[in-house]
Amino acid sequence: TDRFTYDPGFTSTASCDSGLTFIDGDKGMLLHRGYPIDQLAEKSSFMEVSYLLLDGELPNKAQLDEFEYTINRHTMVHEQLKTLYNGFRRDAHPMAIMCGVVGALSAFYHDSTDINDPEQRRIASHRLIAKMPTLAAMAYKYSIGQPFLYPDNNLSYAGNFLRMTFGVPAEDYVVDPVIERAMDRIFILHADHEQNASTSTVRLAGSSGANPFACIAAGIACLWGPAHGGANEAALNMLREIGTVDRIPEYIARAKDKNDPFRLMGFGHRVYKNYDPRAKVMAQTATEVLDKLGVSDPVFDVARKLEEIALNDPYFIEKKLYPNVDFYSGIILSAIGFPTTMFTALFALARTVGWVAQWNEMISDPAQKIGRPRQLYTGPTQRDYVPVDKR
Ligand code: CMC
Repeated sequence: TDRFTYDPGFTSTASCDSGLTFIDGDKGMLLHRGYPIDQLAEKSSFMEVSYLLLDGELPNKAQLDEFEYTINRHTMVHEQLKTLYNGFRRDAHPMAIMCGVVGALSAFYHDSTDINDPEQRRIASHRLIAKMPTLAAMAYKYSIGQPFLYPDNNLSYAGNFLRMTFGVPAEDYVVDPVIERAMDRIFILHADHEQNASTSTVRLAGSSGANPFACIAAGIACLWGPAHGGANEAALNMLREIGTVDRIPEYIARAKDKNDPFRLMGFGHRVYKNYDPRAKVMAQTATEVLDKLGVSDPVFDVARKLEEIALNDPYFIEKKLYPNVDFYSGIILSAIGFPTTMFTALFALARTVGWVAQWNEMISDPAQKIGRPRQLYTGPTQRDYVPVDKR
């Protein structure tokens, strides 16, 4: 066993070569194919970033139009899929539903089993990117007992999702451009983040040659946890629980207490030992959205004050704990009208692009092998079986 390196949590193991995303955690830098995340968030669109991640370069106008057209053509889901939703309780968590319905897509697209065919991989990737908003919106509609809405392919990716989520068949739904832009920006900020837990899960599942829809379902399951994507839901719940600025010191004290399992949700990161650049854009977007919607959310004041207090506290300074992408996103999503239980499903929707891009990269890599970590065995040495009456 001396031959193996012990690295729990993979803090120092590179599992692959990748040309998609670069993070310099000390500098707080995030690049997709070389482009800084703040530039993409400000100037680009989620469709462009998706193309960039999948293809390697930003599209020209004709390429972008074609890509958007292709994604639009795949937004519908099979009618039979509706019956799957009906099998869930109405109070099912949307992430539980997403694990199920995305995994179930593998039963609808048997052609995707041929993962060595680049064309089949491309179609599966487009299907996944296109159908995630439809499936996530359906999970929400199901939870509130409203009818599912079909996609409207005249709308943008974000606009379509907003309409399927908040629209009703009896009325026209007018997409607010401010919300549409904020939604699109949130999607960009979540699109990819190199070898995080869920992406590594997708790669590991995919390394056995499994169906891509099943691999993405595995990624969704991993993302759900509060240490990962589930932190956006947990962060807003925590901020609401704190409620008022005067209660912040109590929670800071709890976060620092080693006998208390409580952590500041939306704080800290395995790779960033500096401000998460996504959190910066997120905080700025929260200010813009709340201003434009004329919403004043006391939770936003709590979040800003909490950040200020934590960033001046020796515990957080020493451990280099800063707000991460999940700290401010919930404030925006809540202002838009999403319940907290939908937050992680939105993360999954956007991260699907990164997952499929990484999955494609892995399968195209000649060095690709089935992922198979080793272990340091700590159990008993060989011994003889003892019959039950002798134990
Ligand atoms: N509040 C209080 N203390 C913390 C926190 C926090 N949020 N995060 C880390 N620490 C402490 C931790 O107790 C440990 O202290 P010590 O060295 O004394 O034992 C030290 O900082 C290092 O923490 P770690 O758990 O060893 O670090 P990690 O790289 O394994 O974990 C993390 C990273 C993100 C899981 C962790 O910071 C955390 O649990 N944060 C809260 C959950 C969260 O916001 N997750 C979202 C991550 S970002 C994007 C995403 O994936 O969604």
